[in-house]
Amino acid sequence: MVTRHQVLVASNRGPVSYTVGEQGELTVKRGGGGLVSGLSSVKGDAVWVCAALGDGDREAVRRTGGRLDQADTGGQVVRMLDIAPEVFADAYNGIANSVLWFVHHMLYQTPLEPVFDTEFDRQWRSYEAYNAAFADALAEEAAEGAVVVVQDYHLTLVPGLLRERRPDLRIGHFSHTPWAPPDYFRLLPDDPDGGVAAAVLRGILGADRAAFLTQRWANAFAECCVKLLGAEVAASDDGEMLVTYQGRTTRIGVHGLGADGDFLRERSRRPDVTERMADLREQIGRDRDGNARKAIVRVDRTELSKNIVRGLLAYRRLLDDHPEWHGRVVHVALAYPSRQDLAVYREYIAEVSRVAEEVNAAYGTEDWTPVVLYLKDDFARSLAAYRLADVALVNPIRDGMNLVAKEMPVVSDGGCALVLSREAGAFAELAEDAITVNPYDIGATADALHRALSMDADERAERAKRLAAAATALPPTAWFLEQLDALRR
Ligand code: F6P
Repeated sequence: MVTRHQVLVASNRGPVSYTVGEQGELTVKRGGGGLVSGLSSVKGDAVWVCAALGDGDREAVRRTGGRLDQADTGGQVVRMLDIAPEVFADAYNGIANSVLWFVHHMLYQTPLEPVFDTEFDRQWRSYEAYNAAFADALAEEAAEGAVVVVQDYHLTLVPGLLRERRPDLRIGHFSHTPWAPPDYFRLLPDDPDGGVAAAVLRGILGADRAAFLTQRWANAFAECCVKLLGAEVAASDDGEMLVTYQGRTTRIGVHGLGADGDFLRERSRRPDVTERMADLREQIGRDRDGNARKAIVRVDRTELSKNIVRGLLAYRRLLDDHPEWHGRVVHVALAYPSRQDLAVYREYIAEVSRVAEEVNAAYGTEDWTPVVLYLKDDFARSLAAYRLADVALVNPIRDGMNLVAKEMPVVSDGGCALVLSREAGAFAELAEDAITVNPYDIGATADALHRALSMDADERAERAKRLAAAATALPPTAWFLEQLDALRR
């Protein structure tokens, strides 16, 4: 008899991933992040439902029947779904990452895209099938009255589908992205009866509670519900928004995920990090007076919305406008590959490399490399760069939160100055002690970098202390438990 669970999490990417070696052996890699630590703090019975992402994961599902070996998952119960590869590719690459991600981050170059044609229709049907597979698995795994927290834009239809299957459950949905304003959201086919835009909103409104990283994204979601579906919005006694549509009410919550201060402080003091600090120090080098050069650090996925290219252009502008920084500063950019199945992401990495080389060709000297760029994922190196940062550059076009903005002030040894885009969710909590920028404005970003580099050491340390306190106000475990509590109330 199958054990049914009281707490369920559903997300596209699970807490572990597998690769198959040459002899057919499976190697497991465990991920970190908010959900992993949140779920492991749940007392009692919990299960995580996720998708198989690649061949290694599929092989693990084949060998285990889908309930992964708990020796691999650190004791967590994980059910991995082997959704047909073509269906998964359409849903993940086609709809989630090329349509919903683009809409919420407002990434389209609209003269040519999006194009909602027959290919899109096919991909949408796959997205529906992939969401239905999750809803079926959750319905099977959930005990009577269980709490289910569904994560992100991959799974927007799940709350509605799950409610049809199991009206007894308490269902939450959490969006880790921004939410598009109505005029942009309705780029999606927006027929109120059969359109994709309405389906996404209705899917999420199948939840008892739909939550977001900031009030700004929560408001945008509610506005879309009003403008596209004719839903009504009211305020609850405790000040949360209530969206009522077709006689059902969904509560709208905001939980600003914070950095895991304790983990970061401990992890960033380990020997592998110190080793990489020595390497980075050597690459950054010393100025002509023998002082360590200043480091402007950024760490991102090579993600279109992170705005890495404009960051490099702003750094170049800083060097154009302020020759006094020549030989005295280095831009350390760690940009690890992401979503490489999509051509536009591969092209973006190429553009990041090209612009970095251009800056080095224009300004580099025999003993000064102005941009140090790494394109390989290495967590210890990211922490080493955090520790050495004098300035943190976080300039996304649009971002749900941006945890790097929260992590760097916590970890940096000397207390870094933070240059922060006003379009990052983190802006809501960190603006006061950051130097904030319009991410499209190269001149303003260059000025902000100059101000940050010139900031007096005491002021920088004071600001970093306040930034770190704000950044760790809601660490991952508390963030997760807060959502569970709110759902149970
Ligand atoms: O921001 C949304 C998000 O799902 C994050 O939680 C995560 O860091 C990122 O996107 C990763 O995307 P992917 O699973 O496609 O690599």
